[in-house]
Amino acid sequence: MSFRRILVTGAAGFIGSHFVERALEDPEVECVVGYDALTYAGRKEHLGEALEDARFTLVQGNVCDEDFLIKTLRAERIDAVVHFAAETHVDRSILGARIFMETNVTGTYTVLEACKAENIERLVHISTDEVYGPTPEGEQFKEDAGFRPSSPYAASKASADLFVQSFIKTHRLPALIVRGANNFGPRQFPEKLIPFMVHRALLGEELPLYGSGRQLRDWTYVEDFAEGVWLALQRADDGDIFNLGAGNERTNRMIVETLCDELGCDRGEIALVADRPAHDFRYAMDSSRAVQKLGWTPKAEFDEALRATIRWFAARKDWMEKVYAETADYFKDNYAGR
Ligand code: TYD
Repeated sequence: MSFRRILVTGAAGFIGSHFVERALEDPEVECVVGYDALTYAGRKEHLGEALEDARFTLVQGNVCDEDFLIKTLRAERIDAVVHFAAETHVDRSILGARIFMETNVTGTYTVLEACKAENIERLVHISTDEVYGPTPEGEQFKEDAGFRPSSPYAASKASADLFVQSFIKTHRLPALIVRGANNFGPRQFPEKLIPFMVHRALLGEELPLYGSGRQLRDWTYVEDFAEGVWLALQRADDGDIFNLGAGNERTNRMIVETLCDELGCDRGEIALVADRPAHDFRYAMDSSRAVQKLGWTPKAEFDEALRATIRWFAARKDWMEKVYAETADYFKDNYAGR
């Protein structure tokens, strides 16, 4: 293993916190620094187990703060950075995208400059399948497919992805890119489809599917994704790009029907509501490059992992109500009158 002193941006977020756990599983890792602005979705409580580990430190900081980021990289003698920090919710980006410009574009640019200034030996940038835009039926995008982002969120991630590519080419920055599919699992913020619908179902409220509800996503269990990012960190070459999707294509309706069955609630609560503008109908990537080069083999059995995730959220009804109440304005803006 080559990288033992790792800084993880967005470490208190959903996927970032799972990656921190994966990194700490390796006894050869000397230190993991979680660098997180602790905004609404980045929460200290996500790092419960990691905070018990003497090799882990949580630093509150913004990815746009270059001086503080550089200071942290230097103080902790970091050799690799894994950059998860991002605003991630498409519906929020439709209501207003300035923070997406700041965190995702300026933030990524700042991470690049900081890594360059400190001669960081490896940067893994976390990107998304949404940069490719919707995938036509019967196709799967490979890593060299063009970018056709539909939402302001996707545009900000496409821009960040291109900035990383430009630093690899222009400055020979030792970076690589991982493009993830829809992740699911414990600790996802309850604005995303699965935890949001669990929350609504527990309250006995209507379950609002956008448009036809037949949109397709490739659902990847978060621990499998974290493993893929770990393998990319340790095994990939500079300049590599990998798609990471487990190949579990399901419609949104299928997901919400499973959720109703698991929670014993009436499927009749599912309501088709006004569609998300520019809603991508399907995402599908060809991830064979990661399988072949990194030896990535997603392990989760989809149905079992989905049901376990639903139960995980159902057991945290109070926590969901609390975080939901903290961000009530967003839910009102997005769903009222839909
Ligand atoms: P989401 O979890 O927001 O992820 P993404 O937009 O990045 O794919 O949404 C997953 C799918 O579920 C997407 O097609 C939009 C749909 N969706 C609904 O139909 N209703 C909802 O209330 C939400 C949050 C999502």
